[in-house]
Amino acid sequence: MLRMFADTVDDVVWFDALLLGAVTGLGGYMAVSLVKAARTVDHADAEARAYRRRLESVIEEMPIGVAVVENETTLSLVNERYRRLLRLDPRQTGAGIPIPALRVYDREGRALPMSCLPSGRAMNAGETVRGEEFRVESSGGKTLWLSVGAAPIRNDEGQISAAVVTVVDITQAKADEAERNRLLAAILEAQENERLRIARELHDELGQKLTALSIGLKTLEARGETAEPEARRLSASRQLVDEISESVRHITGRLRPLLLDEVGLAIAAEDLALAWGEQMSIAIDTHIDELPADLSADTGIVAYRVIQESLTNVARHASASNVSVTLHRDGAHLRIAIEDDGVGFDRASAMNASSRHFGLAGMEERVRSVGGRLDIESEPGIGTAVFVSLPLRKE
Ligand SMILES: Nc1ncnc2c1ncn2[C@@H]1O[C@H](COP(=O)(O)OP(=O)(O)O)[C@@H](O)[C@H]1O
Ligand SMILES: [Mg+2]
Repeated sequence: MLRMFADTVDDVVWFDALLLGAVTGLGGYMAVSLVKAARTVDHADAEARAYRRRLESVIEEMPIGVAVVENETTLSLVNERYRRLLRLDPRQTGAGIPIPALRVYDREGRALPMSCLPSGRAMNAGETVRGEEFRVESSGGKTLWLSVGAAPIRNDEGQISAAVVTVVDITQAKADEAERNRLLAAILEAQENERLRIARELHDELGQKLTALSIGLKTLEARGETAEPEARRLSASRQLVDEISESVRHITGRLRPLLLDEVGLAIAAEDLALAWGEQMSIAIDTHIDELPADLSADTGIVAYRVIQESLTNVARHASASNVSVTLHRDGAHLRIAIEDDGVGFDRASAMNASSRHFGLAGMEERVRSVGGRLDIESEPGIGTAVFVSLPLRKE
């Protein structure tokens, strides 16, 4: 196989292809080809060994970390970038380099065993993994964010004999993303605080005075001292005042759910869902657990806004007959689901048309600003489900 490879393929072409591959994100694939070739020559003659050295220098020059996982404990063909990223002992070289002791976590902070990592999945299940993000803690306590890929390496019989792993350091990009989210969270918080202030003022100032005015007018009406048609006008004015009071109450509620601050998310969400069902005449089920009292205020308001926006979308677009709202605690996370049995939609085309629609995009941004995740499952004709996971407390 190697001879054919060496005879028919020009080195320069391979090298160009490698660089192109690395740049276009096909680095992992190219690494597999190279590593395969390098392994094939393990037992070959001097010419083949010379070729292997060439391949090793190519792997060395790759702009990403590359290593071959031989089994559960050892690595081989490790390039310098991989060594530096995972802090391998420089004295260990050759075919039996021990896999370093690392603690690896997924994006939600769950510790992962070896078998769930890309290398384990490539070795055990023949899976090819591209660019999954992990937080890695080395034994020295240093934290890195890595984008990890892996692919199985098969022998001539087609059995998996090893796996190639590629790693890219994305720690800086993650820090930039965190900073962006921090700024976004600060903007959203300022906006929420401003809304809260306006809502309170509307409620306390306008709401109270309108109530006083309505009572005054009612007293006059009750005395019956006014002659027609002034009596009718008085009664119409009193009704108008009551309507204005109702509008103020509505506007206040939309601006800021005062209930959320007073009684907490579980009750406020239940109240929101039931009031929505009544107003829309749509059957709504709620499955809302008791939530921890020290739930972060950011999470509370984001959860409330997600439910509010999702229900608005159901009312506007879904033509649903049944809706359910679920809120429960799952470890350190709050899980929310808003499901409907309406017309559903195609996410891709909704995203294309999203320049005029900010609902879903805004919801996603809000969720991300507190370190959460949003997934939408929708199928035309079947319905839509919005799933959100939020950290219960600030990280
Ligand atoms: N529950 C739903 N059922 C059906 N279609 C939906 C649902 N939620 C969202 N959509 C579709 O996704 C689009 C984008 O939603 P959104 O970003 O909230 O914008 P808007 O509600 O302003 O149209 C909507 O226009 C609609 O076509
Ligand atoms: Mg909307």
